[in-house]
Amino acid sequence: MILITGASGQLGNALVTLCQARGIAFQAVARPNFDFEKPETLSACMAAAKPDFVINAAAYTAVDKAETDQAAARAGNHTGPLALARQCSQRDIPFIHVSTDYVFDGDKGAPYVETDRPHPTGVYGATKRDGEDAILSLGGKAVILRTAWVYAAHGKNFARTMLAAGRRMPVLRVVADQRGTPTAAPDLAAAILAIVGKIEATGWRPDYRGVFHATGAGETTWHGFAAAIFEEAAKLGYKAPAVQPISTAEWPTPTRRPPDSRLNCTKLAQVFGVTLPEWRASLPGIVAGLLALDAPS
Ligand SMILES: NC(=O)c1ccc[n+]([C@@H]2O[C@H](COP(=O)([O-])OP(=O)(O)OC[C@H]3O[C@@H](n4cnc5c(N)ncnc54)[C@H](OP(=O)(O)O)[C@@H]3O)[C@@H](O)[C@H]2O)c1
Repeated sequence: MILITGASGQLGNALVTLCQARGIAFQAVARPNFDFEKPETLSACMAAAKPDFVINAAAYTAVDKAETDQAAARAGNHTGPLALARQCSQRDIPFIHVSTDYVFDGDKGAPYVETDRPHPTGVYGATKRDGEDAILSLGGKAVILRTAWVYAAHGKNFARTMLAAGRRMPVLRVVADQRGTPTAAPDLAAAILAIVGKIEATGWRPDYRGVFHATGAGETTWHGFAAAIFEEAAKLGYKAPAVQPISTAEWPTPTRRPPDSRLNCTKLAQVFGVTLPEWRASLPGIVAGLLALDAPS
């Protein structure tokens, strides 16, 4: 039985949907019953579920807000996940945790590998890095997946924001000098369940422990992502706006974003035999889902 935390989020929802579709036994928890800011809720959920695996899809994900909301960001990304990992360690069960490309500053100029030294540029990235380090320092059965640019038909994300903005404005300005890879939440959920399946099949192996990069394949910029979103939406009758490329300097944010946060995902393929699909291949289904859910009445 798998315990899925953060069930109301993009990844949590995708995990729940996939477990339901495949008949996999799971229990999903979310706030207020499971809250990293209320540590007693963690042990209560673990005691009630008695899981064989824990997948932590809960996190503090508001990148800019984290700068002024540091205590909540630390509870959601560092001390909370550490307390959950400790519970897993005590029960000797695998803990699958999700981290981010924002642990890097984006100045490498090539896709990051897992052995590259993190250097976050903001509070969100710093709390996620500290969470990774703390979880691994326990020495338990921990798999940490760093992902990036997560989007889905469910939840708040760039694709939903673009489609909503495009309904209001004929021209959108989108940053074209930040590179990375969009990751569809259902693809990441499928990869995580494949990892669970592999661990079940082989039993725990020492090389499963550690950090793995797990994004969609390929790369783009936010501008390229927006253009592709509108290309898919237009095929379904959406009136697409013009998308103008701009520089990061023209779109200042409280937290500096990595200019190039591409992640090399070879280790995930080598150790677990898991590769996420090309980011562009997963886009049409999600855009269709977003248009269906957000159709103007
Ligand atoms: N979104 C991205 O672009 C992105 C990029 C890189 C990495 N990631 C990582 O991928 C993972 C999944 O992200 P996502 O996009 O699915 O995030 P999301 O849609 O923002 O969902 C976050 C989930 O965490 C829950 N949560 C927030 N604070 C919590 C707390 N203190 N205690 C318990 N639950 C809490 C939220 O609950 P509420 O609904 O109650 O707020 C929600 O269920 C996270 O680890 C994130 O850091 C995301």
